[in-house]
Amino acid sequence: MREKTSEDRASGLATLACKAATCTSCRLSKGRTNVVFGMGVYNAELMIIGEGPGQREDEQGLPFVGRSGKLLDQLLAEIGLRREENVYIANVVKCRPPRNRDPRDDEIESCKSYLIGQLELINPKVVLTLGNFSSKLLLRTTIGITKLRGHAYPWWNRRLVPTFHPAAALRGSAQILDGMRYDFSLVRSVIEGTLEEDIPESAVLEESSVTESQGLDAEQMGLW
Ligand code: URA
Repeated sequence: MREKTSEDRASGLATLACKAATCTSCRLSKGRTNVVFGMGVYNAELMIIGEGPGQREDEQGLPFVGRSGKLLDQLLAEIGLRREENVYIANVVKCRPPRNRDPRDDEIESCKSYLIGQLELINPKVVLTLGNFSSKLLLRTTIGITKLRGHAYPWWNRRLVPTFHPAAALRGSAQILDGMRYDFSLVRSVIEGTLEEDIPESAVLEESSVTESQGLDAEQMGLW
């Protein structure tokens, strides 16, 4: 198959964003102010995936614009990245769940094609999942983030680095922030091609987890 050109990727994302803007596939569409499709550059080597928009994000139509977003930008800057220049940020669901509850299975299913489309078009070298929810969902595991983080897992022919949600670092101890800094350093190593880490036995995921041999392919639609 022909490689996607920059134009293909930029126009593909614009088309998908237009479709999402009028999406009414699930109940979350009823309560939204704005669809929060995603932001960043189409040729990003890093794609960040959060859970779903909060109040600020819903108001502004952009992901991670509150206090969590400021911390995220700071951690990105520490590894030499900027969301406007070399990162793409999206969420599992594009509309705000009421009172910031976890997205439900049918909402995730309804929204799945947008995230898969974003992943295919951007084709990042590394995916960083923020928090328990998106990390467990994308790695198809029940292992919690505290145990899961600290590794760059092989995932659909790329790496996935699960880390804490920035909101947890804002609420929690310095240890959480230290952990995030370590995970961001793994992201940098993947981008630079200097990752040395092997996944240790103790971090081996459950049987259903994605393995290195699987390529990302919309036909499979089996990300989670
Ligand atoms: N938390 C998320 O998971 N996503 C956002 O966009 C904002 C806060």
